[in-house]
Amino acid sequence: MPSTADDPDGLELELLLEAVHRRYGLDFRGYATASLRRRVWRRVTLEGLQTVTGLTDRILHDPRVLERLLKDLSINVTEMFRDPSFHGALREAAIPLLRTYPFVRVWNAGCSTGEEAYSLAIALHEAGLLERSRIYATDMNEGALAQARTGSFPLERMQVYTENYQRAGGARSLSEYYVARGASAVFDPMLARNMVFAHHNLVSDRSFNEFHLIVCRNVMIYFGRELQRHVHELFLDSLVPLGLLGLGRKEAIQPPEIAACYQPLVASEKLFRRRT
Ligand SMILES: C[S@@+](CC[C@H](N)C(=O)[O-])C[C@H]1O[C@@H](n2cnc3c(N)ncnc32)[C@H](O)[C@@H]1O
Repeated sequence: MPSTADDPDGLELELLLEAVHRRYGLDFRGYATASLRRRVWRRVTLEGLQTVTGLTDRILHDPRVLERLLKDLSINVTEMFRDPSFHGALREAAIPLLRTYPFVRVWNAGCSTGEEAYSLAIALHEAGLLERSRIYATDMNEGALAQARTGSFPLERMQVYTENYQRAGGARSLSEYYVARGASAVFDPMLARNMVFAHHNLVSDRSFNEFHLIVCRNVMIYFGRELQRHVHELFLDSLVPLGLLGLGRKEAIQPPEIAACYQPLVASEKLFRRRT
């Protein structure tokens, strides 16, 4: 995101990201500029400031301001069985392949508050594979992970999630998996038995295992091209031969030399299989 002399806004943004990186070791320098700029400016306004440089000054001296900016930059919107046709493709095309392994390791990267990981767990459970699977669900946002570890989601969302689940080919009633407690739907702990929620930053942390399936949806849309390449290298490095990769609707594998390492499993759902 190199700024130019006639783009002082861009320069201020660059300096802010450099400051956050050097002071706190958090690297947003490769994120896509347009959405980053919008979010940073929102924070400038909410802090009652006039400029991005003013925000840099605050952040350097007050980690609480950084915390607030982090919340703005980490968009945690998620759903159970989000894009049901993707989860349908997982059931129909991916699970039969996963079934051939004696043990299945799944990495749900950018899991947010856990709805996606629980959706994967339900699909594996219904296929009889959950017992011999382990789901590693990771995110850079500790607050989101803390929420995910509770295994409970807003009860008011259950109607939408039930429809998603059914459209994704769910064979039962979603309500079999949770009990209502106050405003929450508390999910059956059986689903989380082989699930680990852990902090992992796709920008700066390395691979930590070899996986049969990596699901990373709606995360890389916020990344610039170089960062996307970095993460795709990481994923290629983290998949077993013939391992599976699921991306979000608007995402693609790039650059072309990494894309060439995969074949589409269900092209329309951005579900891929490593060629070797
Ligand atoms: C929009 S949510 C997507 C959640 C879920 N995958 C889905 O599709 O519903 C994006 C998530 O990516 C996480 N994220 C963003 N940058 C990240 C990074 N560098 N490393 C790990 N997680 C990141 C955010 O914290 C957020 O929880």
